[in-house]
Amino acid sequence: MNEVIQNMADRRSVRAYTGEDIPEDILHSIIEAGYLSPNAGNKQLLRMVVCEDHKINDRLGRLRNLVTRKFWWPKEGEEFTFSDEELDASDVDNSFYNAPCVVYLFSEKDFEFAEGDCYIMSNNLCLAARSFDVASCVISVPTDYFLVDSARQILKDWGIPDNYSIRAHAILGYPEGGFPEAKEHDKYAAPLYVR
Ligand SMILES: Cc1cc2nc3c(=O)[nH]c(=O)nc-3n(C[C@H](O)[C@H](O)[C@H](O)COP(=O)(O)O)c2cc1C
Repeated sequence: MNEVIQNMADRRSVRAYTGEDIPEDILHSIIEAGYLSPNAGNKQLLRMVVCEDHKINDRLGRLRNLVTRKFWWPKEGEEFTFSDEELDASDVDNSFYNAPCVVYLFSEKDFEFAEGDCYIMSNNLCLAARSFDVASCVISVPTDYFLVDSARQILKDWGIPDNYSIRAHAILGYPEGGFPEAKEHDKYAAPLYVR
């Protein structure tokens, strides 16, 4: 197996992290690898927020789970009814598994390939992370939880434009208990080669 394919085989989703931070130079290299992703029309619309603030990641990670549990994607014009008190009172888990670094991937709301761009970039981040022995997991966005008031202010603080929405996350850190083994992929149907 060549080095690139071996790295793909070694990457696994990790859902338990030590609290150790990723050294700055390694984190920068991982993030730079994100920018090498294919992206629709080469428009490069995507914006990354690389957050190592545990309090913010914990709040948003819990909010994502709580909002997802209560709502699915809201219909046009439908408002969330949700309060900070409700989050504070909830014992919901953190969707980011307490990883020390969460990369939030945003793209333009009305761009039809926004989600594709963000998931492809999240995969680049995960593969690059594995090449530095940094663990990762892609975390989905079933519902735009930033529509909730308590999160809107964070978007403003981060300078995310109003016409952008969250589409994917990649969480990064060091694995508690090591990396899982390379996985079997025998549930896939066999490929059909047509010549
Ligand atoms: C689009 C997408 C969304 C995902 N969302 C989540 C998620 O919300 N939470 C999670 O724990 N894992 C998530 N994963 C990780 C998958 O569960 C994981 O890739 C799958 O179980 C295969 O395991 P592996 O990554 O170790 O090969 C997601 C993966 C993809 C590609």
